[in-house]
Amino acid sequence: MNIKTILENIVNDNILHAKWLNTLSYMENAGAKKISASEHKENVNLIILKHAAEEHRHAYYLKKQLDKLDGDLCKTYTNNELLAPNDTKFYLNALDVAVCRYLKQHFNLHGYELKFAAYLFVTYAIEVRADELYPVYQDVLTASGSKVTVKSIILEEEGHLEEMLNQLKTFSEDWEKHAELVIKIEQDMFHSWMQNLNKQIA
Ligand SMILES: [Fe+2]
Ligand SMILES: [Fe+2]
Repeated sequence: MNIKTILENIVNDNILHAKWLNTLSYMENAGAKKISASEHKENVNLIILKHAAEEHRHAYYLKKQLDKLDGDLCKTYTNNELLAPNDTKFYLNALDVAVCRYLKQHFNLHGYELKFAAYLFVTYAIEVRADELYPVYQDVLTASGSKVTVKSIILEEEGHLEEMLNQLKTFSEDWEKHAELVIKIEQDMFHSWMQNLNKQIA
């Protein structure tokens, strides 16, 4: 299964492309809400505020890109306006639950500490994914001459990955070992998401 081929098939079909943009917007919005939900009541730094604001912007920006496609499509996040809606809606929560379980076992964390550690590792995995997926999508957009662009998102996601790396380094000395495992969990989820998405568009 080749991600680029899947994205080419999507971009070549106006309705599928609209649903894809809407699906990415949904994911970004879910990510933004997750970041805000993991905030401490008082101890909120600039990086967390910036990160939540930018993920919200991505959700809005992707929704706005729909104006560039014909048909006035995908006004809401209902299932028939998303690709692989079940996977799309469960992905982030399922990843969060799996990572929380892992962190509980290995760091014996609870309450806010656990929430914050999960924010670090889950967001890290998502930023790695974003840094892989958006550039492939942009290449497909450019090659097809589409008016849609995600260049501004790519720039900000690169910044996020950098910020998550810095935070992880201060969280634990052997963060890399744990991050690798979290990446593995995310990869499995991403592949089943892509598989179901591919089935839907075939
Ligand atoms: Fe984002
Ligand atoms: Fe991000």
